[in-house]
Amino acid sequence: MFFDGVRVFVGIFTTVCALFGAARCFKEVKIKVPPAVLKGHEVVLQCTYDLEGDKLYSLKWYHNSAEFYRYTLTGESSVKPFKLKGFHVIPEKSNATHVYLKHATRAMSGQYSCEVTADQPSFFTDMKTAVLEVVDPPVNEPYISNVKSRYKVGDYLKAICSADKSDPAVNMTWYLNGRPVEEPYVKKYKKTVEGNYISSHSTIQFAVTEQLFDRGKLRLRCSTNIHDVWHRSCERTVELKMEDDYAAAYLPTSTTEFYHEKFWLYVARDNPEATEWTVTNSNSSTNSIRYNSAIIFVTIIICVR
Ligand SMILES: *[C@@H]1O[C@H](CO)[C@@H](O)[C@H](O)[C@H]1NC(C)=O
Ligand SMILES: *[C@@H]1O[C@H](CO)[C@@H](O)[C@H](O)[C@H]1NC(C)=O
Ligand SMILES: *[C@@H]1O[C@H](CO)[C@@H](O)[C@H](O)[C@H]1NC(C)=O
Repeated sequence: MFFDGVRVFVGIFTTVCALFGAARCFKEVKIKVPPAVLKGHEVVLQCTYDLEGDKLYSLKWYHNSAEFYRYTLTGESSVKPFKLKGFHVIPEKSNATHVYLKHATRAMSGQYSCEVTADQPSFFTDMKTAVLEVVDPPVNEPYISNVKSRYKVGDYLKAICSADKSDPAVNMTWYLNGRPVEEPYVKKYKKTVEGNYISSHSTIQFAVTEQLFDRGKLRLRCSTNIHDVWHRSCERTVELKMEDDYAAAYLPTSTTEFYHEKFWLYVARDNPEATEWTVTNSNSSTNSIRYNSAIIFVTIIICVR
């Protein structure tokens, strides 16, 4: 059963090859162009082919259909770099499969095609195309703005990650304590065009909860990249403002205040009226509070004297 299937498949394959010419079935052209390269860097383009015994007649490279490189075995010089504006082929390094381009410029972004032609008798020709993007990274390191150093539960935290002037725009990902976050925390990116460049901004926005913090700290990280050729990240750590902090704010700060506080505690403990005042404080009439406070006040004056 299995072998029957294989036989049928091989049969169909052979028939198709016979109809369209063996060359098209076995000769294969493969193109290898990096999807992205940093501005100023060297670019290596690769075109490999198996001509199944036929000789190579010519290999041509095109940028958006304009030829910039030709390799032939007929002429006296096998490498013929064409004068194409913004293109600098390195002839010493380039050959029948590899083309080296010096100093990538933004004008070099676009479609690259490699066309292979076999010598007679087949004159087999095939062309493959791939896209290259020359990347101009942001002028500065990305940064996080609009962040306070401390937040308390219920506060609204809004932080903005920015990367200024790049081409293309950068991709941004937010992390909270190492974990990536998406919507609804992250608002959509905003891109602003500045001349030939794009500035990217991403906003993260949420109500602060205690669960977001790890031992009182929350690390906000903004990770940015442009394809595989440029990566940067920036980080800010914010602290959780505890409820205790409010208590701390009302604690006596100076020594004198401290002793007064102690004194008050002493009075409260030894004076039954004062104790009553402390207990009924939350649930008694204002009159009663005033009355008890007056007693305490008088007691203090007596004690101090
Ligand atoms: C072309 O150059 C590359 C390295 O740049 C090398 O690996 C390759 O073998 C060369 N091909 C030929 C046909 O010389
Ligand atoms: C940004 O990310 C998207 C999705 O992962 C990807 O398709 C795109 O190519 C990236 N752009 C850049 C400039 O890195
Ligand atoms: C406050 O006083 C009322 C009436 O005396 C009583 O019903 C209530 O339980 C008290 N509340 C508290 C919190 O002690």
